[in-house]
Amino acid sequence: MHTSESVPHSADTLKTDAEDVARKEKVRLGICGIGTVGGGTVDVLLRNAEEINARSGVDVEVVHLGSRREVQGSGRAGIRVSRDIFDVAHDPEVDILVELIGGTTVARKLVTQALKAGKHVVTANKALIAEHGNELFALADEYKVTIAFESAVAGGIPIISALREGLAANRIDWLAGIINGTGNFILTEMRDKGREFKEVLTEAQALGYAEADPTFDVEGIDAAHKLVILASIAFGIPLDFQKVYTEGIANIEPLDVEYAEELGFRIKHLGVAKRQSESKVEIRVHPTLIPEERLIAKVDGVMNAVMVYGDAVGPTLYYGAGAGAEPTASAVIADIVRLCRGMRFQPSSQDKRIGVNESMPSLGVSAKDLGSLDVLEACNFSSSYYLRVTAQDRPGVLAHITQILSTNNISVRAIIQKKVDSEHDTLPIIILTKCVQEKHVDSALESIAALESVSDSIVRIRVEDLA
Ligand code: HSE
Repeated sequence: MHTSESVPHSADTLKTDAEDVARKEKVRLGICGIGTVGGGTVDVLLRNAEEINARSGVDVEVVHLGSRREVQGSGRAGIRVSRDIFDVAHDPEVDILVELIGGTTVARKLVTQALKAGKHVVTANKALIAEHGNELFALADEYKVTIAFESAVAGGIPIISALREGLAANRIDWLAGIINGTGNFILTEMRDKGREFKEVLTEAQALGYAEADPTFDVEGIDAAHKLVILASIAFGIPLDFQKVYTEGIANIEPLDVEYAEELGFRIKHLGVAKRQSESKVEIRVHPTLIPEERLIAKVDGVMNAVMVYGDAVGPTLYYGAGAGAEPTASAVIADIVRLCRGMRFQPSSQDKRIGVNESMPSLGVSAKDLGSLDVLEACNFSSSYYLRVTAQDRPGVLAHITQILSTNNISVRAIIQKKVDSEHDTLPIIILTKCVQEKHVDSALESIAALESVSDSIVRIRVEDLA
C-alpha cells in the first residue's frame, strides 16, 4: 500500500510490479533416464500440464533430459538432451532432478551431486533409497533440500504419503503388502492358467514390469527394498536393508497352491512388517498363505496392494498398479507437485528458493527423532505355518509327527492326510499350525525329517491371518 509520502511509480516500475503479480513462478525439471518410466513421466507431464500446474501453483517445465543412450524422440518440445547425465545435476536451470536411471552406483553419485548442487530430488529408485537412504537423507538435510520417492514403492499407489501423512495419527501395528507386480503376475498366471514360471517371467519382462535383473523380482529382493522403506516410515526407524529376511517364490509348487486353496487360503508373495513387542519388529518377505476371504487375497496379476493396521484407524487397504510407465509416472509427478507446493520464492527472483526439507522429512520424522527397534532374526518370528510332509504309508507315522509337534509346543489347527501316491507308496500330510515361534518349528522339522518314514524335503510356508 502506498502512503502519501511514497515515491510515485514510474510507468516502467508499475509495469514490472504488474508483471510480478501476474507471472506464475516456474519450476524446472531435469529428468535422468528416459526408459519406460521416464518416457511415461514426460508424456503425463505434457498431457496433464493444466491440472499439474494448477495443483502445483507454479508452471512445471521439463528443461533438461539426461540419457546415457540415444533415445528417439527424447528431444521433444525443444527440451535440452544430454548424454552425460551429470550435466543435468549441474545445470543451474534445473530446480528438481528426477532420477529414473535405476541401480545404486551411478544413481547414488548422480543424486549426491544433485543434492550438493542444491536441487531437490525425486527418485523411483527403491534400491537406492533402501540401501543408501540414510546417507542421502542426511545430505539432503545438510543442503536444505528434499528427496522424494513415492514411486519407489508400489508404483502408482500413494502408499508413502498414506503412511507418512494420511496415517500420521496412528501407531502402526503392522503392514503387509503385495509389492512386487512381477511376482504376483507370475503366481497368478501359474495358478489360473497353469503356465510355466519361465514363460510368464519372459512376458513380464516384455511388458516392462520386471527389474533389469529379474532375479530381484523372483527372489524377493525388489520387495525387500520396498518393504524396508515402508517399515522405516511405519515404525519411525532408520533404514536397515541388511536386516530384512528375504525368501523368493521359485520353490512354490502347484501342489501347495492347490492344498492351500483346499484349506481356504491363497499363496501370495508378501512383505510383512509387524511389531512383535514394544521394542521388537519383524521385517520379512516370503511366500505366505492368506485367508481367501481377505480383499488382498484377491489382488491378482501385476497389481499391488498394501494393508496397513493403525491403532486408531484399524485395517486399511491400498490397491493399484505396482509397475508400468504411467502408473509409476503418476507417483513421480505427485512428488514433483508436492515439492513445488512447498517451495517459497523471493519476490521478483527465480534464484532465491527456500528448500522444503525441514518441513517434510523423508521418513516422516527428522533423523534426530528416529527411534531404534530390534529387527528380529527369522528364528524369533511368530507366525502360523503350513507344513507339507511327505511320508511313507506306514501305520503310526502320523502319530510320530503329531508327537514331535506336541513336544515342541506346537498346536495344530488342521491336519489332512492326502491320497497315497501309489507309485512311490508315499502320502502328503498337510499340517496347519497355530501361532508359534519359528525356532520351535525349526526344531520340530529337524526331528520330523529324521524319521525313517519321512522324506527330508519338508515344505514350510508361513501363514498370516491379516485380521
Ligand atoms: N519389478 C517391479 C515389480 C517394478 O514387478 O513390481 C516396480 O517396482
